[in-house]
Parts: sequence; structure tokens; C-alpha cells
Amino acid sequence: MPKPLVEFDNVSKRFGDLAAVSNASLDIVPGEVLAVLGENGAGKSTLMKLLYGIHAPDEGRILVDGAPSRIAGPSDAMRNGVGMVFQHFSLLPALSVRDNLLLAWPRTPFWTGKANRSTSSVLDNLHRLAPSIDPEKTVGELSIGEQQLVELCKVLNIAARVVILDEPTSVLTPEEARRLHGFVRQMAADGVAVVLITHKLADVEACADRIAIMRRGEIVRVLQAGQAPMSQVVTWMMGSEIVHDLPRPAAIARRVDRLVLQSVRAQGAGMSLKGIDLAVAGGEVVGVAGVAGNGQTLLAETVAGVHPLESGFILLDGESIARTDPRQPVATPLGYIPENPRGNAVVETMSLADNLRLRELAAGSGVGGFDPGQYLRRFNVNPPEPGRAAGTLSGGNLQKLVAARELGAPRGALLACYPTMGLDLAAIEMIYREMFAQARAGAAVLWISEDLDDLIAAAHRVAVLREGAIVSVRENDGTISREEIGALMTGMRPALSAA
Ligand SMILES: Nc1ncnc2c1ncn2[C@@H]1O[C@H](COP(=O)(O)OP(=O)(O)OP(=O)(O)O)[C@@H](O)[C@H]1O
Ligand SMILES: [Mg+2]
Repeated sequence: MPKPLVEFDNVSKRFGDLAAVSNASLDIVPGEVLAVLGENGAGKSTLMKLLYGIHAPDEGRILVDGAPSRIAGPSDAMRNGVGMVFQHFSLLPALSVRDNLLLAWPRTPFWTGKANRSTSSVLDNLHRLAPSIDPEKTVGELSIGEQQLVELCKVLNIAARVVILDEPTSVLTPEEARRLHGFVRQMAADGVAVVLITHKLADVEACADRIAIMRRGEIVRVLQAGQAPMSQVVTWMMGSEIVHDLPRPAAIARRVDRLVLQSVRAQGAGMSLKGIDLAVAGGEVVGVAGVAGNGQTLLAETVAGVHPLESGFILLDGESIARTDPRQPVATPLGYIPENPRGNAVVETMSLADNLRLRELAAGSGVGGFDPGQYLRRFNVNPPEPGRAAGTLSGGNLQKLVAARELGAPRGALLACYPTMGLDLAAIEMIYREMFAQARAGAAVLWISEDLDDLIAAAHRVAVLREGAIVSVRENDGTISREEIGALMTGMRPALSAA
């Protein structure tokens, strides 16, 4: 085995009395992809933030090239050749992709006016990794998956020796994820040490050479990929076996439309909704499939009342829930899990309890007899401390917090955008259970997802969104195939359809 680039030597990190990382020892080796696995809150991000200089270890040492290294901040880490792509992003949404990359470009500071000279090399990695992203677009116009790829380009541009990717594929389409896998393998072949934090077993199967498993802050196992079956890896990760088994959609006794979209038009940045008609009945789960960037965000934000409706109707039980006045507070009676909850659905400096009460606080109404601890436990938000600031939760636990608020009370309708993003297997099961329970209790559920297998397994109907229009709605009679939906998503005919 080549000499390790980085050695964690008995490293610990506490937050108050919470041990986020305990006595962790681990080597990071050039030319290798190391997958770091573990349940939500296991300490994966914290461990890597120690190497990136975001936090300092309380105990233990980090050795770089065999010598103890004092890493006081990210600039020290970058000097060590370490780059990290975070679970949440640090792009400037109002600037173009090109300008964001130039700002992070280590060689030519943008204020020298020599930016144009290096522009082509600044864009090299972008062209290779994400050829479809137009560098002149503003970052705000990109899908969240595309933003992730721009973040990755920033790290590739600093020519790092160690590249840490914190759950890169949770926001990528299957196509983007495949391209990323190829890229990760290429980096390793070029001698880079790649650390891949992930919940997706497909990432492990496609890329990993070695696997480190964390549980409650400890590294409980390190093994070569392929040394144990994945089911065993999952058991080590979660402490028990998890079967991913989605319920078939429950029969709807009597169809009563509750959430109704009629000729919905809206105008977003570089995207418009072109007259959407869709009715979701009480008890029904309608899945929306589509390649990211085809209007999913605009559709969700328009239905949720975050984005103004241009024309048409959005009705819940016959009453309009569209927001006509942008100054009016958003107070829809709809349960809403937006994409990117950290940016869109929580106030990080506020407590867990206040975040659970956020709707009532915004509306200025009271909440009698509200027990935040009960919500936190039911949705397995860890640690379940109502007074803790939301920003200190791990990525997955923050997602669970938003789910607790939106799914914790009975809703007439539910709009769930990628509700299982960044969750471990046990949490995914829990979110689906709560979501389908809402439907069984009579809610109309609109579910935007990238996971075709899950949509096909559990939705009553699957709608396909392409270029801001619903191009197909298919009854789930057990004959829908991935290929059929995939062809509709991209606008290509399925290979087997009659010519
Ligand atoms: N800045 C902080 N202040 C207080 N506690 C923190 C802070 N950052 C992390 N923690 C806690 O440390 C523990 C480990 O968090 P970490 O983010 O490393 O988990 P993770 O394995 O990355 O989980 P996920 O898969 O959900 O992203 C969690 O219990 C979290 O609440
Ligand atoms: Mg994390």
C-alpha cells in the first residue's frame, strides 16, 4: 500500500457533552477512493471538517505526509492540498457560473482584470464534468444538482491531492451521478486521494476501493470494497438489518379531488410552467418524475405559494391557495417539504422547537399544548434536544426536522420535494411511512422525486414533467417501467415502442 497522505491518529471532537468523533484512526491513501459510511449524525462530516480545518480536534493528531499538521482553517488545509465539497453550498447565486469559478480560482485573482486570460482553463473541468451547464448562466438559475457540480469544479480547479466529497450524489440525477462516478475513478487513477461520504450503496459499488464505517462518532470498521456483502455493510452501518420495501399504493375507495392545478402558468428564471393541469385526490400519491431543471422547483414553489402564479388556479378543497400578493406571508395549509431545506425551510440560528413552530410563529398564531420533544422523538431527530440550534444538526437530521414539522400534523395536501435527500436507510423508511400514512388518512400527496424505482413502486400515478409541461400521466397498474418513464423524461421514444 502506498504511504498515507493523511493519518487521523486517535482523533476526538466534542460539541458540549456530545462526542461527535471519538478516538478515530484512519488513513487516507493516494490513488484510492475511500467511502465513509454511517447513519445520520454518525460523525462523517465532522471528521472530514477536522481535516479541512473547520473544526480543531480536542484530542489526537492529524498527520499529513507523515508529519503532524496544525490545520487552523481551510487555507491551511488547501496548502496541504486538501479540498472539500460540502453538503451545503457556498456559491453566490447572483453571479454567473464563470464568475463563481473565477472567484475560487487560486491563480488569477478576478480583480486583476486578467480574468479572461485564464477563463478557458477555469472552465476546463466544468466542460468535462458538466458539459451541459452554460457558464454564462447565473448560479441561481441552476438546479441544485448542477450547483453541486459547480462546487466540485471549484475543488478540482485547486488541483487538490485529497478531494473530500460530502454526499455529492444525493442531489444528482442518475445520469449526473454516473458521470461523477467516472470522474471520481479518473481522479483516483491520476493519484488523487478521494474521500466519498455517502448513503448510497450504488456509489460504493461504483467507486469505492476501501470502506470506513462510522457509528456514534467511532470508526467501527474499515474494509476493502468487496470484502463483505453490502447487506453486511448495511448491518454494520445501522446496527441492524434494513429492508427497503415500499408499500404498494393503497386502493382509493372514492375519488374526490383535493389538490387541483388548473392551467397553472408561472415564470421563473430561464424556465416557465406552460399550463399545468393535474388533480390529486384525497388518499392519492402522485409522483412527479423528470430530469432536474425541467420545472420541478418552479412547480413546487408555485404550488407552495413561494413563487407568484401568473395565471390559472391552484385549489385545495375548492379554495384557492395561490399567493397573489408577494408581501403576504406564506401561510398555505399545505404540508411542504422543499428541496434544500437548510436554505429554504429552517432558520439555523433558531432552536429546534421554534423551527417546529415556524408556521405558527410566521402567522402570529398561538400553539397550545405543543410538545416539541414528542415530534423530535417520533421523527428520530438526533439529538432530540428542543433548545439546540437547528444549524448544529447533521445534514440528515436537519432534513428529518423539516419532515417532522410538515408531516407531523394531519394535512389536507402534501407537497414533498426529494423528501429523502441525504437520509440513511432507516430514516428513508420512516419518512416514507409517515408520508404514506398522510395519504391513507386522506391527504392528497404530490411527490417530486428523482428516484424512479421508488416512484414506480409506491405512487398511484406517475406524471412526467418536461420543459415546464406535464407530458404524460400514467396510472400505476404494475406495468410501468423505468425505461418508459426515462424515455418520456428525455423526450426520446422507448426503444421497444412501435415505430
Ligand atoms: N457545529 C456543531 N455544534 C454542535 N453539534 C454539532 C455541530 N456539528 C455537528 N454536530 C453534532 O455532531 C454529530 C455528528 O454530526 P455530523 O454532521 O458529523 O454527522 P454526519 O455523519 O455527517 O450525518 P449526516 O449523514 O446526517 O450528514 C451530530 O450529532 C451533530 O448534531
Ligand atoms: Mg454529514
